[in-house]
Amino acid sequence: KVEPLKPLVVKEPEVEVDDGKQKVTIFFGTQTGTAEGFAKALADEARARYDKAIFKVVDIDDYADEEDEYEEKLKKENIVFFFLATYGDGEPTDNAARFYKWFTEQKEGGEWLQKLKYGVFGLGNRQYEHFNKIAKVVDEILANQGAKRLVPVGLGDDDQCIEDDFSAWRELVWPELDNLLRDDDDPTTVSTPYTAAISEYRVVFYDNADASVGEKSWGNANGHAVYDAQHPCRSNVAVRKELHTPSSDRSCTHLEFDIAGTGLTYETGDHVGVYCENLSETVEEALSLLGLSPDTYFSLHTDKEDGTPLGKSTLPPTFPPCSLRTALTKYADLLSSPKKSALLALAAHASDPTEADRLRHLASPAGKDEYAQWIVASQRSLLEVMSEFPSAKPPLGVFFAAIVPRLQPRYYSISSSPRIHVTCALVYEKTPTGRVHKGLCSTWMKNSLPMEKSNDCSWAPIFVRQSNFKLPADAKVPIIMIGPGTGLAPFRGFLQERFALQEAGAELGPSLLFFGCRNRKMDYIYEDELNNFVQSGALSQLIVAFSREGPTKEYVQHKMMEKSSDIWNMLSEGAYLYVCGDAKSMARDVHRTLHTIVQEQGSLDSSKAESMVKNLQMTGRYLRDVW
Ligand code: 2AM
Repeated sequence: KVEPLKPLVVKEPEVEVDDGKQKVTIFFGTQTGTAEGFAKALADEARARYDKAIFKVVDIDDYADEEDEYEEKLKKENIVFFFLATYGDGEPTDNAARFYKWFTEQKEGGEWLQKLKYGVFGLGNRQYEHFNKIAKVVDEILANQGAKRLVPVGLGDDDQCIEDDFSAWRELVWPELDNLLRDDDDPTTVSTPYTAAISEYRVVFYDNADASVGEKSWGNANGHAVYDAQHPCRSNVAVRKELHTPSSDRSCTHLEFDIAGTGLTYETGDHVGVYCENLSETVEEALSLLGLSPDTYFSLHTDKEDGTPLGKSTLPPTFPPCSLRTALTKYADLLSSPKKSALLALAAHASDPTEADRLRHLASPAGKDEYAQWIVASQRSLLEVMSEFPSAKPPLGVFFAAIVPRLQPRYYSISSSPRIHVTCALVYEKTPTGRVHKGLCSTWMKNSLPMEKSNDCSWAPIFVRQSNFKLPADAKVPIIMIGPGTGLAPFRGFLQERFALQEAGAELGPSLLFFGCRNRKMDYIYEDELNNFVQSGALSQLIVAFSREGPTKEYVQHKMMEKSSDIWNMLSEGAYLYVCGDAKSMARDVHRTLHTIVQEQGSLDSSKAESMVKNLQMTGRYLRDVW
């Protein structure tokens, strides 16, 4: 018999506030669950260390329903910690966006800030320009407004080993909390070394396939009024096209999701989140490494049989009952590199002591360099690691709780209407170990079967994430768009919108589009469409940089330099400037070029130019959709 489905999100048990105890609140702003995991890990260890205090872990989005409640609630706090991830172009995670906006708009600190003690740990990636911006901003505002900073802001770097950054920061926290929470007269509060327990779900197995509710779970006419990451909407692939010509050695897919009748809505410039599945070859490999049958039907539970919670361990979201094959296909991120905590969990279930020792070593401070080299730099996937340690056969409750993370949705800029159009470059590359890494979603899109070819077409659970990457409300305002490669995607939407406005009789301001690709004959995507926009007047000027046609590389920023005075004049007339595409190099280079143009054309010194560019950003006239 199938047990009733549990909600997808595991909530922390509510703690009774006992006046005799100090309260510590640990907030998290998370996108993929890492910040949440760290917040809960800090709470778990703190609870083991200080029984004179109460530790509460709070999703920052659940803290207050209305903005004006924040201050009232924060006034009652004494010690708080924030775990805050920074995303995309220096943005907060979706669940922290409302708090962040409120917090950064506060003009001066209330009195409550004077008694607040705090610590901030950030999650970011050093490869990006706005490394840990959200954490840095929150830390700085709190300090400036009089709160007491207990520890320096932690700058977690996902490009290296963020778990190590967290561990190092956590070691700075304990002496501070010792001062605040430890009762010297009480011998029971003496610190004992803490080892985090390996988390594990309770697993219920079913011996027949009647339990296969989860086989059809995602996005089947799910009746939700609002679609989001937890409630995606099933949508069919209507059209699929290859955008590169056969002479190109790469691939880029144009895909259209049919959302007719679903109630799913979006605006130009928004993103679509797409859940996709592991390839069957990946799932087969995982099955053989686990040594379990694909037809094992099971469900995961975060409580004991009598309904009491399993304990304080940090558990990722569960999923509906299904077969192991389905669970591995839909919910398991099998190709990312394993975290250190996953290595420890594998070690605990390795029957060969040499393998267990080596796994523990890799996860230990002494194995730091080896972990950085053998796992991170080599991009060794979880499956590759498991195949090197064949004696490690974790049970399912441990595998899904402590070893394999959940498969995350992939985000794409939406490029058209009324269907959701996506432009997706195929990810297909050799990792340092020689494994061919096939991008999950891009491979799925490339191989998907569209409705125009078959009624039994491909489909995916999708949802929309709003963005602020929007056209100016007044169509007469000039716009400058910069989007090489698949960065073109949202601008197709912009141009279609302008075309429709023009057809409806609106007057359009001037517009420039800088597009870049390698070679006119290979990867000049949507060429005809772009030329049509120019002909109709929806686009005033199309400027294309071909990087591999001539003897030297020509990129969009080189073309921008050639058009410096046009850009400057348009900006002086109030133009909006948009950049979409790769964040790590293109968006940085374009940003520098913009700075140079402003400096040269405006005859400004470097710092004046910088403040002008900043001002464009602050006033929402310089917008970036970068990844
Ligand atoms: P490349 O591959 O020849 O280096 C779309 O991907 C286009 O963006 C390609 O023509 C690519 O050129 C180019 N590109 C690569 N790096 C870039 C950068 N830093 N700035 C602008 N364009 C870049």
